[in-house]
Amino acid sequence: MLKIAFVCLGNICRSPMAEAVFKHLLDERGLSDRVIVDSFGVSDEEEGNGIYPLALKTLENHGITAKHTAKKITATDMAEFDYVMVMELRHRGTILCMTRGEYADRVKPLCKDRDIVDPWYTRDFEKSYADIKACCMSLLDELITQGKI
Ligand code: 4NP
Repeated sequence: MLKIAFVCLGNICRSPMAEAVFKHLLDERGLSDRVIVDSFGVSDEEEGNGIYPLALKTLENHGITAKHTAKKITATDMAEFDYVMVMELRHRGTILCMTRGEYADRVKPLCKDRDIVDPWYTRDFEKSYADIKACCMSLLDELITQGKI
């Protein structure tokens, strides 16, 4: 079973949105039983909190329901997941510091050419959602083409 983790800073906005969008795309294609999807933060500041209300509302505006409790990624998680998709390149740096460089090949930016902007500061949750959706669709297509799913 392929295991994919999405990672942002607090695990209350972008990464739980990516988790929910990717699960929704898998569901639409009848592939939900082939992949385990979860999300994490690189910080523990929001640990225990639910999805930020505006992030949840944005998902719901697009017909996606979600439930998640924020948690910080650990070295144990890093050993478990095949793909760790980060919203910003600096999150990759934080994770590689934590694992002392181990599993570096698993940690990739969700968006290849730029960071997924943080709606916590822009307040533009629709823009982040659109970026996340486009990148999740590309990721899913790539994994299917490569025969990983
Ligand atoms: P996220 O957004 O990393 O997409 O979950 C943020 C959530 C909380 C904070 C920053 C970004 N914060 O500074 O509390």
